[in-house]
Amino acid sequence: MGVSRIFKDESLLDLSYVPPRLPRREEELRILRSMFEPILRKPGSVAPRAVVTGGIGSGKTALTQRFGIDFEKEARARGLNFKCIHVNCQILRGSFFMILVETVRRIIPGFPRRGFGANELLDSLLELLEDENLYVLLILDDADSLLVKEGSTPVYALTRVYESKPEMPRRLFPVFVLRDPGLMRDLNHATLSYLRGSIVKLRKYGLDDMIEVLEYRASLALRSGSYLDRTIRLIADMAAPMGDARYAIELLYRAGKYAEADESPVIMPEHVRKAYQSLEYYPGLTEALRSLSKHEKLFLLAVARCLERESEEAYVTMGEVEGLYRVLCESYGEKPRAHTQLWKYMRNLSFLSLLTVNPSGRGRRGRTTYMGLNVAASYLSKVLSKMLEGV
Ligand SMILES: Nc1ncnc2c1ncn2[C@@H]1O[C@H](COP(=O)(O)OP(=O)(O)OP(=O)(O)O)[C@@H](O)[C@H]1O
Ligand SMILES: [Mg+2]
Repeated sequence: MGVSRIFKDESLLDLSYVPPRLPRREEELRILRSMFEPILRKPGSVAPRAVVTGGIGSGKTALTQRFGIDFEKEARARGLNFKCIHVNCQILRGSFFMILVETVRRIIPGFPRRGFGANELLDSLLELLEDENLYVLLILDDADSLLVKEGSTPVYALTRVYESKPEMPRRLFPVFVLRDPGLMRDLNHATLSYLRGSIVKLRKYGLDDMIEVLEYRASLALRSGSYLDRTIRLIADMAAPMGDARYAIELLYRAGKYAEADESPVIMPEHVRKAYQSLEYYPGLTEALRSLSKHEKLFLLAVARCLERESEEAYVTMGEVEGLYRVLCESYGEKPRAHTQLWKYMRNLSFLSLLTVNPSGRGRRGRTTYMGLNVAASYLSKVLSKMLEGV
């Protein structure tokens, strides 16, 4: 035990980690920079905006975060009071109001959420930027949910915010991150014409892209000599049809874990195959999880942890889950919800296919409700813990 022979630093394969470089997305990074560069030259007099679209795992979040971090640094080096704010619309359930509250709170923590409507809040945000002499690049990640829930209005409001205030310095620059570019069609004409020239479309990663992305991420996180070219190639082959870099990185991570478990100094293709087998591809999983409330997440995490602990069991009982749920609530500083509420969570999670419910509990004694999972418990528990820690 002790030092890993495979990983240099496994946290560098975390899904929330933003790597210093993004191979195969350099061009898009340059395009984004050139779109926003006028802010550096003429602060206050220009209001660039962007729409970034691409499929699942095409690097939208990584790209916009990398760009935001770098651009903020560059702007600050030039003496601008500049902040990049990244909000996830899906987590905020697509509510424009909640998105604005979250944005303001990143500037003034603890800002109260009552007493405003979305329009007043947007005006307050503009005033706040003025008072603080602050410029904000606002990344609206997973904006699909915002468009679905609220239609054109918020996009219209954010892109044309300065139209009726010609004398006001331009300080708010939105970046809409969309998975489904088709949603743009539902925007009204005026908004669309405003955005048309600002779209950055991420093409799907192909085999060569996957190989390069994987080689880079492996070089960051793994010990040299702990992986073979053909291992990387095999992972790329498996992930290329979906073009999903998240899946590729997850495979690499898991294969590394299997190699560790085998006490092998090298990740072999067989470890990749095991990882592939264990990681059933479920592209909707992350979104489904993100849409859950905090307590639903805690509840599901309790199920996952119970099953992880009892890896031979197919099902766990409500009683076992509830016990662990209470422990988790305590460690996350949350007040546990009542028993009846947990039943509602269970039904909703089962409706979302995140849980399987087996009332007869075949295969185990007693009469109670049993819950099982379709996804590997360890995987679910990792993803959920990360989400609950707010990353
Ligand atoms: N070009 C790249 N180089 C290195 N890592 C990458 C690259 N593109 C994506 N990744 C990594 O792949 C994973 C998935 O990328 P990301 O989360 O940005 O995708 P996404 O398009 O936002 O997906 P979703 O639609 O599910 O939100 C992340 O861990 C990210 O760091
Ligand atoms: Mg994303």
